Amino acid sequence: TYVIALPCVDVKDKACVEECPVDCIYEGPRSLYINPDECVDCGACEPVCPTEAIFYEDDLPSELASWKSINANFFSELGTPGGAARLGPQEFDEPSVAALPPQA
Ligand code: F3S
Ligand code: F3S
Repeated sequence: TYVIALPCVDVKDKACVEECPVDCIYEGPRSLYINPDECVDCGACEPVCPTEAIFYEDDLPSELASWKSINANFFSELGTPGGAARLGPQEFDEPSVAALPPQA
């Protein structure tokens, strides 16, 4: 799966959302998250992010390694909704993201 990491927090450019062919990039108040069970690893999102927040899981820099589980944790209650547009923005962030100080 691909992963959205810290540089998205409080930026939320959302260029990635337009590129994803399976609509698996979901929105919280402070960040977006890729659903690891729905991402088909097409990679279209990665180059369009202006903050370079998106990584293939195996390419995450060591300091951002925790973001693979952060993306997965966002879906602990949601499961696999089958489309972010249909679901709409959520009112919660993954807990460790919610606890971050302002980033932007
Ligand atoms: Fe965030 Fe980059 Fe997408 S800032 S919303 S991961 S384009
Ligand atoms: Fe979508 Fe990016 Fe995965 S475009 S399918 S989230 S690699």
